[in-house]
Amino acid sequence: MLRLIYLAWWQLRALCGRRTPLQSVIFILDKCNLHCKHCSVYAIAAPRIKTLAQIRKELEYCYAQGSRFVDFEGGELYLWRDNTDPLRTYDINDVVDLAHEVGFWNVTITTNAQLPFSGTHADQVWVSMDGIGKWHDNIRGKGTFERLERNIALYAQSQPAAGRRKKAPVCVNMVINNENYGCIDATMEYVKANPDIDKISVNFHTPFPETEQLFLDPVTRNAIIDKLIIYKKRGYPIMNSRSGLLAMKMKDGKTLCTDRYCWTTNFIFSDGSRSPKCMGYTHGVCDRCGFSMGGEMSAVGKMKIDTLISGLKLRM
Ligand SMILES: C[S@@+](CC[C@H](N)C(=O)[O-])C[C@H]1O[C@@H](n2cnc3c(N)ncnc32)[C@H](O)[C@@H]1O
Repeated sequence: MLRLIYLAWWQLRALCGRRTPLQSVIFILDKCNLHCKHCSVYAIAAPRIKTLAQIRKELEYCYAQGSRFVDFEGGELYLWRDNTDPLRTYDINDVVDLAHEVGFWNVTITTNAQLPFSGTHADQVWVSMDGIGKWHDNIRGKGTFERLERNIALYAQSQPAAGRRKKAPVCVNMVINNENYGCIDATMEYVKANPDIDKISVNFHTPFPETEQLFLDPVTRNAIIDKLIIYKKRGYPIMNSRSGLLAMKMKDGKTLCTDRYCWTTNFIFSDGSRSPKCMGYTHGVCDRCGFSMGGEMSAVGKMKIDTLISGLKLRM
């Protein structure tokens, strides 16, 4: 109840012009075990890895700003370790525990599922899945889909982490580009039929430098959005809200979701720099943004009821 009051107060303040983030995205490393075609993170020559002490300061900063939901990002979170304490090595579960200790209500992690994630302390696990079988492997490397499937199945068979009554749901995060859009139907059927996957979130390729060639043309993108809305209506487990999907449509070469509403989330990057907007803003690609979060934030900013409800369901 107290949390709902906080959310109502946050929304009221926002309407009065006091805009503070409710959600934070903290990148804790940029080291990765995959070289995905659509991603530029792995290309960083000297990957950075934060210490738990640094992450604590960042969490406290975000919490003090008013944020209550945190998403940890990388790099690959299952590669993260902090060896600075002579008594023990910390891993991603310690980072999640720390976020809960600081006061965050909901903590999510994103992984490529190449390593087992059973026993996670997170409240939600996002697995990056860019299609099925060879479609996914084409983007992420040979054998990656098989490992992803195996680790999702292992997680489904595992027990909740010690001291927890239930396990975090596993959702998949798909990024549609001009090489994998042909497998959307098969991916929807796969997710619907897989009892180990809760929902799918759909994104479009955002053309960061060196990855522009994967950008999907606006006409195809808009047609895919129409198709996804029909899938959603038919009960397929699509996480994006209808309004969030519509906000990702493009007109005159630009997305309808402008970065005007992106203040609902703040970002702290692997180099420790803090920003009220994501790296798409830094790279000047907001007008071609494909992140589902961009669409959802835009719809929240416009007070779309379906988006507010789906956000509450996801986080509370
Ligand atoms: C930077 S990755 C790192 C997390 C993890 N190692 C993984 O592969 O899932 C975080 C998410 O961003 C997505 N992503 C990477 N590049 C993107 C792009 N150009 N446009 C949209 N999403 C992108 C990935 O597919 C992944 O779901």
